[in-house]
This record gives sequence, C-alpha cells and structure tokens, in this order.
Amino acid sequence: MSTSPTLLAMPQTDPSALRERYRTVRQHSERLAVPLSAEDMAAQSMADASPTKWHLGHTAWFFETFLLTPGLPGYQPFDPAFGYLFNSYYEAVGPRQPRPQRGMLTRPAVEQVLAYRKHVDAHMARLLQGPLDEQQQALIELGLQHEQQHQELILMDILHLFSLSPLAPAYSAAWPKDSAGRRGRYRAHGGGLLDIGHEGGGFAFDNEGPRHRQWLEPFEICDRLVTNGQWLEFIAAGGYRNPALWLSEGWATVQAQGWEAPLYWRPVAEQRQDIAAGWQVMTLRGLQPLDPNSAVSHVSYFEAAAFAEWAGARLPSEAEWEVAATAGLLEQVDNVAWQWTRSAYAPYPGFRPAAGAVGEYNGKFMVNQLILRGGASVTPPGHSRPSYRNFFPASARWAFSGLRLARDSAGKRQPEPPRGSMSEVPAPREASAEGEGFAAHVLAALNTRPRQLSPKYFYDEAGSLLFEAICRTAEYYPTRAEMALLRGCVGEMAALIPEGAALVEFGSGASEKTRLLLDAAPQLGAYVPIDICREALAGACEQLRQAYPALQLAPLADDFTRALHLPAQVARLPRVGFFPGSTLGNFTAEQAAAFLRGARRLLGRDAVFIIGVDLVKDPAILRAAYDDAEQVTARFNKNLLVRMNRELGANFNLEHFHHEARWNAVEQRIEMHLVSACEQQVTVHGQAFTFAQGETLHTENCHKFTPASFTALAARGGWKVSHQWVSEAPEVALFCLR
Ligand code: AVI
Repeated sequence: MSTSPTLLAMPQTDPSALRERYRTVRQHSERLAVPLSAEDMAAQSMADASPTKWHLGHTAWFFETFLLTPGLPGYQPFDPAFGYLFNSYYEAVGPRQPRPQRGMLTRPAVEQVLAYRKHVDAHMARLLQGPLDEQQQALIELGLQHEQQHQELILMDILHLFSLSPLAPAYSAAWPKDSAGRRGRYRAHGGGLLDIGHEGGGFAFDNEGPRHRQWLEPFEICDRLVTNGQWLEFIAAGGYRNPALWLSEGWATVQAQGWEAPLYWRPVAEQRQDIAAGWQVMTLRGLQPLDPNSAVSHVSYFEAAAFAEWAGARLPSEAEWEVAATAGLLEQVDNVAWQWTRSAYAPYPGFRPAAGAVGEYNGKFMVNQLILRGGASVTPPGHSRPSYRNFFPASARWAFSGLRLARDSAGKRQPEPPRGSMSEVPAPREASAEGEGFAAHVLAALNTRPRQLSPKYFYDEAGSLLFEAICRTAEYYPTRAEMALLRGCVGEMAALIPEGAALVEFGSGASEKTRLLLDAAPQLGAYVPIDICREALAGACEQLRQAYPALQLAPLADDFTRALHLPAQVARLPRVGFFPGSTLGNFTAEQAAAFLRGARRLLGRDAVFIIGVDLVKDPAILRAAYDDAEQVTARFNKNLLVRMNRELGANFNLEHFHHEARWNAVEQRIEMHLVSACEQQVTVHGQAFTFAQGETLHTENCHKFTPASFTALAARGGWKVSHQWVSEAPEVALFCLR
C-alpha cells in the first residue's frame, strides 16, 4: 500500500462534516494503539514494516507539514526535529530517518508522540473553523485518507511483528474472525470496449485516473476468493515444489526463502488425519486453527500466479476486476483480502502527478509492483472503492493479500475445470514414478535407433492444454465426430446397460462425454472415473456431484492401463466399461491387446465395454488432422522438446526440428515425428546425442481401424463385438464389446 496519497478529485465538503470526519478518523488511529504496550509500539519487525509509534507520528506530521505550517498563521511546529523523524519519503520536504531504522527511534516516547498528535489536532481544530479554500479542504481529505491507509498498515505491521514472537500474542482476542463460505464459481463477462478508472464524485487518489477506455476480451472471473482448503490442495499436489508452475523470479524466491505455505501458516507438530488440522494460522486473534473455508491470505503475487497456473486459470487484469466488481459479479470484494491482479502498476493514459510535494505520492512508485484490487478485513470500512489501486512488489506477503481466479471465456480458453475438493479422491499408485521414468525413458530412446518415445510424455500441463486446443482445430475431427456419433446412438447404448450398473471410465479427464451416457442411462448406480490426475478427478467429481446427486461417485486415481482393483463400493454391481476418444489407437497392437485383457479382468465376466476409435480414411484427411494449418499439433509435438529442455536440462533448439505427420499405409497409422532440420548435437541430462539431417524422434502412433481390424484386435483381448456404430464422414466408430 502506498503510504501517502495525492488527490485527483475532491468535492466541496460541508465544514462541520469535515470537522467531524477529522475527529473520527484521527481518534480511530489512537484506538488501534490501545491493545499495544509501549514496547509493541516501538519495535520494527523488518525494513518494510514500521513501528506503530512511527505511524502515529507520521500521520500527524502530514497535517503539520502540508496544512498547519503553510496555512495556519503563526503556527509553531511541536518539535523541529520531528520533521526528520516522521517524513516518510518526500524528497521535496527534506531528509529523513532511513526507513529500515525507524525501529531505532526509542525517543520520542509514545507519550510524546501522543502529545504531538494532540498539539496537531488542537491546531487543526482552529484551521477547521475555516474559512478553508478548496486546496486546503482537498488536502485535509487527503490527510484523512492517508491516515486510513496507515491504520491498515498499523495492523499489518503489528501482525508481522507478533508473528515473529515465540508467544504468538493476539493483538485482540475480540478481533472478528474471517468470514468463511463456499468456494468461488466462475461468472462470465462479455468484455468489450469499457471505461475504467475513477468516475468523479467523491475522493480518489491520483493514480485512479484518468478514466479511460480499455478493450477486454470476454472473460470469466470467480465470484469468491480462493480458500485455505484450495490452498491445501495446491500444497498437497506439490505446488511449492514444482518449478513448472512458477515465474522464474518466483521460483528463485521460493527456494531462497524456503516458502512452503502462506506467510502466517504454521505446521502443527503432531500430524493429524485431517490435513487442515496439520496447520495453524497466525492472525490478529493469535494462533488459530486453519479454517479451510476461509479465504487464503498473506500470499505473494508469485504464489498467487503459481496457484492460478496450477488451477488451470489465471489472475484477472485490474480492468477485468474493476468491470466485474462494478457489474456486481463479485462477492468478498473489499472486506476479506486484497486480490492480486496480473496488472503491473503503471500510469493510466494521460496520468499526471499532482503539483507540489504531495505529487511524490504515487507516480514515483510506478515500477516493479503489481496491482491489488478490493480491500481487506483490516481496511477501514468505506476507505476503498472499485477504482482503488493498491500495489506491492511481487514477493511481498505481509499485506492481507489473497486472490480470485479468472480465465478466458470458453471460446478462447484452453479448458481446464476448476479443481474441486480432492478429499474423496485416493492418491494414485507410484504418483512420482512418472517424473523419474521420464529421464530414463528419454535417454533410452535417444540411445536406440530408430528413436522412439512414448506419447504419454506429451501430457505435461502445457501439453494437456495444447491437446485441448488440437480438439478445437478445424482439421482435427475425431473428438467432434465421436461426440456427434455418441449423441446419435446413446439411446441404443443405454438399452444395453443393466439396472444399477457401475460405469467405469478409463482415462476420464474432465468426464465430458460421460454426461451423455449418464443422462441417457439413469439406471446407472455408480460412476468410477479412473485417471492419473487427482485434480482432474476431483474437479470432474465436484461438477458431477451437483448434476447427478443420486449417482454414487467412486473415483480412482491411477494409471488406467494398470488399475488392478475397483473401489470396494462397486464390488457387487454389474459393470460397464467406457473408453472413448480413440486413445486405444495410441497403443501398439500388443499394448492394446494387453489393455483389453486387463480391462476384462477388472470389469468381470458379464461386463459391457464401450470403446471409441478412429477409422481408416483418405490419408489427406488424416494427415491434415495431425498437421493443422494453425500449427497447434506442431506445437504439441515440439512441447516434448520444451519439456526435455525444462525437466532434463536439455538444449534442443526448437527451430532445428520440424513437426511431421506421416501416413504409414502398412501399419494403418499416422506417425508423428520430430525431424532434425540439420546435422546437430544435443545435450540431454548431461549426455551428448547427434542427430543427422532428416533423422527423427518418433513421438506418437495413432492407429486407424476398420470394423474388421478392430474386431480382430478385440478378440485378442478376449472380447466380442456385439454392436457397432459408425459416424458420417469423416468416419469414427463406437463399439460395444462383451
Ligand atoms: C489422444 N489421442 C487419441 C490423440 C490422437 O488423435 O491420437 C492424440 C493426438 N496427437 C496428435 N493429435 C492428437
């Protein structure tokens, strides 16, 4: 927060109203000091924070310097030395005590500072008897707004100080608890050419204007703040240990500072079953149990951005935040925690700092800081407004700073559902083996000829998003064609599903196609989505729970090719397997047969198994589907190189490899390759590898079937085709196996 404002707009104020307002605001600062001892008020916990005593002196100094000295005839400063002690950063006013050394000011004592305030108030009372010119009225209002900012700073700084005390003292046991509640839901805003900035009428700081137009693409923004419960999930998912989620400077800060949780979270020594019980939080009420339903607070911009990345979302821009707030889309706007935006603190078009010393307030800080919007539980009520621009450096955590998520509107988005509660999702087997396997598999692939890698490594965070984008390209038809086919035949399929059956989906992701089956087959009693990604499972289940309250959900976090047991709840139910999406085509024939046999064991003798695959067709259509004009598939393929560079310290030059989609007529498959454009040497995991010009890394096979070739494959896996449905061109098929 800025620590001294300038004025943009100030309406004429009724003199008696201004006197009353002066009295109330000034008294409130002193009331905030009542629970504190003289020692509390003198200590400075870090360079960014100031002692309470200094805040009290500085806010009086503001009125003395900018109003009494120039405006009250014959005014004598309380103590000429105080100008040096209590000037914050006004170069035009003179030298000052260095900020990191404000805690050295054991003198003046608190009583003297309070006497200073009394002296200033007495003289201000005379000045306020008026007449006051417009400039003076504006400066008084400015001084009061400035003092309110320091009221918040007093509480922020005291909390920081107390958080460092082994006694973890409460500032006040009666301090209100943070309000708790449900998680946020996305609200849509159509965007457009919109005005932002202060609109006139009422006070605003200079940085809130001029009001100006901004173009906003359609977006979605969460109506509530991210909760502690969601943050626990981020921690449990390794959020603080995964560099892929962090900005480079953020990751360096995480490591340098050893961050593992928000600033004031404290691990509880004795570990409990319930993960929330593993933490306490330092608050103005002292050390408190962590409430998973309260908003997370005291996180840096770096943490907020990493969380958003993990959640498949982003932070809103300040313009998005402002238009959403004024449109009434948001809850928890200004009374819980400030909300980080992705906007850098910069001047609005046409911004000019006010003339004179008070013009030093905002403009000179417009670099290397990010904007926060809203307000917090410690912000004096009525102090903030929708155009208010708070700002802090990206690493700051001592403000009451939280976040709300945003994302591009569905049409623009690379989809990822908001993560829901994972409390019911059991952990996957060998969840970390994937990371270790990657290095070993890459080295083995590069040491073999021809060089070939499993397509499962495509799907890191960026790869998953790119795959979603592929599905939206004009050329990649399989997803759309299968969805349309499913819509047409789901009634017939539903008739094959026994009463009370459990639907078991292999690689369920966001469970989007599943809804068609669930809607058509209300006789289904349970749903077992199997997916390696716990977060995706949790998100899907949360959404399904609302839409199908009677359906039993039994998610299984596992590699669906290796799952050995179904959850106990569905042990006695008849089973229906579901494996849409042509993923079977990415397996070799042996892998596909082994998977089908495994599924047979898992689903049991009388099961029904519905599988979707892509069919053989004109190679030109197939090649285009895997080499789209927008180059999305090329980026998806090359993302493997990006991933190796990042995770294995490789040095692939993306310009030196081409994406290629080849039709292999013998094997009836599209092959994806990364083709070396020249002779080159690459280092991976410390080993050097040579690529000849034209040599390839074979990254994926996408097998295409005929009804006959699929029937033969199913037979190798122990299944018989009982029904089949084929779409219109470009043809894809759904098979029912028994
Ligand atoms: C996931 N799988 C079915 C896709 C396919 O068509 O084989 C993967 C893909 N690769 C490139 N484009 C799409």
